[in-house]
Amino acid sequence: MGKLVINGGNKIQGEMTVSGAKNSVLPILAATVLNGKVNVIHDIPQLSDVKVMTKILRAVGCEVKREGNTMIVDSSQLNNHKIPEELIREMRSSIVVLGAMLGRCGETVVSYPGGCEIGPRPIDLHLKSLREMGAIIEEKHGFLICKSENLKGCEIQLDFPSVGATENVMLAATLAKGITIIRNAAREPEIADLQNFINAIGGKVSGAGSATIRIEGVKELQEVEHTIIPDRIVAGTYLVAAAITKGDITLKNVIPEHLQSTLYKLREAGCRILYTHDTIKLEAPQNLQAIEALKTHPYPGFPTDMQSQMMALMTLSDGISIITENIFENRYKHAYELLRMGANIKIDGRVAIIKGVENLTGATVSANDLRGGAALILAGLAAKGTTIVENAKHIERGYDDIAGMLNSVGADIIKF
Ligand code: UD1
Repeated sequence: MGKLVINGGNKIQGEMTVSGAKNSVLPILAATVLNGKVNVIHDIPQLSDVKVMTKILRAVGCEVKREGNTMIVDSSQLNNHKIPEELIREMRSSIVVLGAMLGRCGETVVSYPGGCEIGPRPIDLHLKSLREMGAIIEEKHGFLICKSENLKGCEIQLDFPSVGATENVMLAATLAKGITIIRNAAREPEIADLQNFINAIGGKVSGAGSATIRIEGVKELQEVEHTIIPDRIVAGTYLVAAAITKGDITLKNVIPEHLQSTLYKLREAGCRILYTHDTIKLEAPQNLQAIEALKTHPYPGFPTDMQSQMMALMTLSDGISIITENIFENRYKHAYELLRMGANIKIDGRVAIIKGVENLTGATVSANDLRGGAALILAGLAAKGTTIVENAKHIERGYDDIAGMLNSVGADIIKF
């Protein structure tokens, strides 16, 4: 998908079913190398990031089949511990294979993932933690050459509750000797999904969802069938689509508890929200209200992955909204594209000040990253006239057929 042409002005109204969570699928697919057996995983979205992870699994010798939204990974014939450089470069989060490969093979070579569109993304916490578990990691010519005869459980204190570092340690600790305790662990719902997967293959993990996770290493693992949790960021994005177009939407296959911080801010903007245990209904107000303070934080705080979509919403609200981005330092590129559509936004370091305007107008804009790209689609839905979102390939990394999904509830989006 090269670009999206959005004819703005239609209300988003109707019902949608949310796909499985990208940020759960990636570490769980990495975890399939651990058992050396057959893994059947349901609710896998069609995403370019999933394709990259599939290529990585095949490159190390797994047999991978996809039947609709179910993927079957047989990791019994693992025969290569080197991950092709271009695949790690294509997707930074593929670094989670490091913990899984070390756990299963005792050695792996991956290229250093480097930075990405939303700023530098160091992996020092991943490496420090794995070294504490006994891994020997050499950093040479842009590669990480990792070896460990015997990974040993230990107590790990993370300086920051990094999602990827928490996952890498959980994966490495599953087959390690002894007990690993992660303190100041990330608490994201996707960490709990990874715990459930590891336990389903016979691992012994507890505490995910809290700041302390305990992993007792085991010797053998078994086959599994697992269903991925719904994507809370995709759900949040579609709620904003209804809010920004003064529409109303009902989402199915959601876990409202995972979206509480987003729902709280959408209510502050004046949206009426009702939910059951697995549906959310949002009705937009006639006039959106500004959100005085939106600060991104690790879960259960407001997710950085919803920051850009909420900024798009605030461009059309009454009053002045203030966003503080605490997680990634360079995550405001979408703001400069929104300016081209008539938004009034000032950026000062980590703070964005958004003064609501009466209308946005269609323009040609560029999706520089996944969530920023989604924000431009949302702005395009509400804008007067036609918006062209270029570089739409970034959006396919995290949204399964976003154009088709939005068109099914009233949008007018054409893919090129
Ligand atoms: C994951 C999510 C991503 C989300 C992010 C924050 C996946 C596949 N991706 O990314 O969508 O935006 O969490 O919720 O799950 N950091 C370090 N050193 C490290 C690791 C991280 O300094 O070794 C810093 C990062 O630069 C960043 C912060 O910690 O400022 C959060 O990063 P982290 O939680 O690790 O994010 P990811 O796992 O990369």
